[in-house]
Amino acid sequence: MSDPQSRREYIRDIATKATKDDHPSRWFEQVYTTAEGESAAIPWAQMQPNPHLLAWLDKCDRPSPSQRALVVGCGLGDDAEALAERGYQVTAFDISPTAIAWCQERFPNSSVEYQVADLFEFAQTHSQAFDLVFECRTIQALPLTVRQPTISAICQLLAPEGTLFLITNVREDEAEPDGPPWPLSETELQQISQQGLQEVQRHRPSGTKRPTLCLEYQRVSQRVSQNLS
Ligand SMILES: C[S@@+](CC[C@H](N)C(=O)[O-])C[C@H]1O[C@@H](n2cnc3c(N)ncnc32)[C@H](O)[C@@H]1O
Repeated sequence: MSDPQSRREYIRDIATKATKDDHPSRWFEQVYTTAEGESAAIPWAQMQPNPHLLAWLDKCDRPSPSQRALVVGCGLGDDAEALAERGYQVTAFDISPTAIAWCQERFPNSSVEYQVADLFEFAQTHSQAFDLVFECRTIQALPLTVRQPTISAICQLLAPEGTLFLITNVREDEAEPDGPPWPLSETELQQISQQGLQEVQRHRPSGTKRPTLCLEYQRVSQRVSQNLS
């Protein structure tokens, strides 16, 4: 692997080119293939479940055996495995075939159904199919030109009364950020509520490198969250 600074510049370069060419998800497969199996070359890969997801799950009731969870843009699979360990029937997808092959190699006995899929097509074929949708840092990894369709596609996956748990970087104003990543603005977060979901909890964890929010949404207004505090 090249030194970390050159790697960052390489990733920024391919992301900028892909965005200019109007293929905003194209660069991810390049990131995974050029990592050549070294997780340190994947800037977002922690090789452990997201601690904010684990904290949220600790406050949730255990799911019934039939509850279906989905991980959007699952990367190297740690969050999907954490959800499966808690008892969910988990599907996890990513647009990168190399990332999905890497998940399958890391977790050969997993109950998670890993799939190579593009969010925009997957949402069409799995409309309202999941009781829990978990999304971490995929919306922000795509530029503002596709923000509205990205948010719509994620919301479409949620079953009636289902829960969306979202972890994302946020920005303080509406000016276009110099991504990647492209953190979400408050107006963009409101687009989630406009898709028929109600925000029931938000939490700003401390100690993160960039301003971050953990948000929980539900399709039904009557249910009250007992989760984030
Ligand atoms: C910044 S990474 C975050 C990965 C993981 N969620 C995490 O928090 O570590 C964004 C992920 O979304 C995937 N991705 C990007 N565009 C996608 C799309 N259109 N459909 C499915 N996955 C996509 C990328 O391949 C990448 O694994």
